[in-house]
Amino acid sequence: MRQTLVAGNWKLNGSQESIKTLVSGILAGVGDTGNNQVAVCPPFIYIPQVAELVRGSKVALGSQDICDQDAGAFTGEVSGPMLREFGCRYAIVGHSERRALYAEDDEFTARKFAAARNNGLTPILCVGETLDEREQGITEDVVARQLDAVIALEGIAALGEAVIAYEPVWAIGTGKTASPQQAQDVHAFIRGKLAGLDQAVADKVQVLYGGSVKGSNAAELFAMQDIDGGLIGGASLNAEDFLAICKAGG
Ligand code: 13P
Repeated sequence: MRQTLVAGNWKLNGSQESIKTLVSGILAGVGDTGNNQVAVCPPFIYIPQVAELVRGSKVALGSQDICDQDAGAFTGEVSGPMLREFGCRYAIVGHSERRALYAEDDEFTARKFAAARNNGLTPILCVGETLDEREQGITEDVVARQLDAVIALEGIAALGEAVIAYEPVWAIGTGKTASPQQAQDVHAFIRGKLAGLDQAVADKVQVLYGGSVKGSNAAELFAMQDIDGGLIGGASLNAEDFLAICKAGG
């Protein structure tokens, strides 16, 4: 039985003050989230602050990105060893905003995935199609290509120790959630593809849904057979909204 994981991706939001309020609100209610796993991914600069605040709680810490290199002349980057030093457990790789706005391609994403693993971090690998790709009927091809780049570099077994997040680009920050069935169809495709290579990996890997998840739609999404939780943007910036999602499913 796979556990439900709800991870908040705060993106480029917050201040020391607002984060203190947000985290204390989450900590006040996280005891009611049962067996569900909970994680937050702050902007890099706030990771030390959040690490202190969540210490000893069930709230795990993740980064929104990671450098593909561990150290050296890579101005502006943050590496796996640094993230580990501050207690990160997860690292998001291949978010659609990184892919679209910062031109990160499948191969680069795969190297970031490898960097996370090499440093004992669990990668949260984001995949998903644009609206144009969905309308062209190539959703599965796009998702398969994004997964294949990681499988080619790291092997199928590596995905058994990772988390996958299916985030249709057209549903991110738009208020347009994929219907539970639309999401389930792609999740089932992902799991089926992995099962064709290694059934145990397919059974084990948590596949999260992301894209306009809210307290009001989380339960029906997480109830689908192949949806094991969510990667939450906007609704993770408010403790009450985030906790409502953290309590769903499971
Ligand atoms: P929203 O929940 O704001 O749509 O963002 C989803 C997302 O991109 C999480 O990584």
